Amino acid sequence: MIDLIHINKYYKSEEETLHVLKDINLHVSPGEMIAVMGPSGSGKSTLINLLGFIDRKFEGEYLFEGESLLTSSDDKLSKIRNQTVGFVFQNFSLIENNTVYENVELPLLYNGYGFHQTKERVMQALEKVGLADKAGKHPKQLSGGQQQRVAIARALINKPKFLIADEPTGALDTHTSEDIMNLLVDLNKEDGATIILVTHDPELVPYCSRLISIRDGAIIEDKELAR
Ligand SMILES: Nc1ncnc2c1ncn2[C@@H]1O[C@H](COP(=O)(O)OP(=O)(O)O)[C@@H](O)[C@H]1O
Ligand SMILES: [Mg+2]
Repeated sequence: MIDLIHINKYYKSEEETLHVLKDINLHVSPGEMIAVMGPSGSGKSTLINLLGFIDRKFEGEYLFEGESLLTSSDDKLSKIRNQTVGFVFQNFSLIENNTVYENVELPLLYNGYGFHQTKERVMQALEKVGLADKAGKHPKQLSGGQQQRVAIARALINKPKFLIADEPTGALDTHTSEDIMNLLVDLNKEDGATIILVTHDPELVPYCSRLISIRDGAIIEDKELAR
């Protein structure tokens, strides 16, 4: 599904050039659940911004289903992003003044759905994450774990080809983290969701089917895991 071929990326300032991604070669198949591990500053966010079609300033080739999508215009690229990838962040990034329902509905509206066409999809997504009864609540009325479930429902609403989760349990206690990881594993195993999970927490690795370790912008380890 995803092929990164000889990817190099540099941040250039007047004083220096920082080589942030160093000859990255990566193939991701549908249905994988990959942990990307590395210390702070190793290039994880840079890598997933590139994978998520946010950043297109790099050298090398990014093929998605055999095609380079990055030559398109900005408008077209945000449309591709909206339909291809779902994002889950550490801090949930929900809109506080919107209800749970409205938060999950928003990417559908961006995608061209009318208000009257969204109800079934939104409620299905909320059921999937076990929160159908919270549709009318606001994010602040929910626990951290429930808010992350809403964020996962939102990430899935456009049926993306893959999910990027950047430290999805970073703001949660151990028990809630396990809950969220089990939900992600269910989505992966039962629905075949392809998940790329960025973390520095080794406890999340056993939930995944593959581990990629990065140091100083280079992949130093890439291995299949039994789970
Ligand atoms: N916009 C930027 N301009 C210059 N340097 C950056 C920028 N973003 C990140 N960096 C640098 O690139 C390196 C990798 O950063 P990042 O991808 O955020 O690492 P991680 O997510 O693993 O903590 C770090 O040294 C960081 O300081
Ligand atoms: Mg980061």
